[in-house]
Amino acid sequence: MLIVNSVTKYYDQNAVLQNASLSLLDGTFAALVGSSGSGKSTLLNLIGLLDRPDSGDVVIDGRSVAVLSSIEAARFRNELIGFVFQSFHLLSRLTAWENVALPLFHRGVGRAERRTAALAMLDRVGLSDRIGHRPEQLSGGQRQRVAIARALVTEPRLILADEPTGNLDSATGLQVMDLLRQLNRDLGVTILMVTHDRDMARLCDRVIEIRDGRVLPQEEQG
Ligand SMILES: Nc1ncnc2c1ncn2[C@@H]1O[C@H](COP(=O)(O)OP(=O)(O)OP(=O)(O)O)[C@@H](O)[C@H]1O
Ligand SMILES: [Mg+2]
Repeated sequence: MLIVNSVTKYYDQNAVLQNASLSLLDGTFAALVGSSGSGKSTLLNLIGLLDRPDSGDVVIDGRSVAVLSSIEAARFRNELIGFVFQSFHLLSRLTAWENVALPLFHRGVGRAERRTAALAMLDRVGLSDRIGHRPEQLSGGQRQRVAIARALVTEPRLILADEPTGNLDSATGLQVMDLLRQLNRDLGVTILMVTHDRDMARLCDRVIEIRDGRVLPQEEQG
C-alpha cells in the first residue's frame, strides 16, 4: 500500500528526515511516534504529497510519486488520501454536512449527491443528529468526527492523521481512536496516525518510531 524509500528532507540545510524508510501493508492501522521535532509531521506531509523529498521516493498503491507533476500529485492526493488534523480544520461558516461534503464539491459532484454521501458518512461516525450544526455548536470530539467523515467521504485508500486526539481529553480521544479503528476494520482503509500518547499507539497494529529524522528499525507485523 505504502512504501517510503530512503527519504531525506532538508530545511535550512538541516536534514529533518535522513534516509527514512517504512512500508505499510494494505489495511494496516499504524501509529507514528517520536519526540517533538523528530520529523513526524514532515514525513506525513511527504507521504500526503503536500511536500516533496530532497531525495528518496514514496510509492503509494504501486505508483511512485517522484515522477508525478504537481497537477498529477494533487489529483492523486484527492483520489487516494484523506487527512485528519489535530485542530480539525473545519470551515466555521459551514454546517457539519457541508463540511463533510466539501471534498465532493471540489470534485464537481452535484449538491443532492453530495448531501446523500455526507449524511451517510456522518451516520457512520455517529453524528446523524448534528448534520445542521456548525463547528462552534459541536464539542471537540464531535468536530473531530466531522473531520474524519470529511476525510472518508471520497473513499480514500489511506488516511493520514496528525495527532487527531491531541486536542481532546483522554476519554474523548479514546472514542475517536475507537472510531478510527472501527473504520479501519469496516472499510479496510489504511491509517497512519501520529500520536504522542503511548496508550493510543498500543491500540494500533504497528508502532513506527522516528528519532532525529530516522525511522528506527522494527519488526514487520500484520
Ligand atoms: N517549513 C519548515 N521550515 C524550516 N524548518 C522546519 C519546517 N517544518 C519543520 N521544520 C523543522 O523540522 C523539524 C521537524 O519538524 P516536524 O514538524 O516534522 O516535527 P514533529 O515530529 O511533527 O514535531 P511535533 O511533535 O512537535 O509536531 C523541526 O526541527 C522543525 O523545526
Ligand atoms: Mg508535528
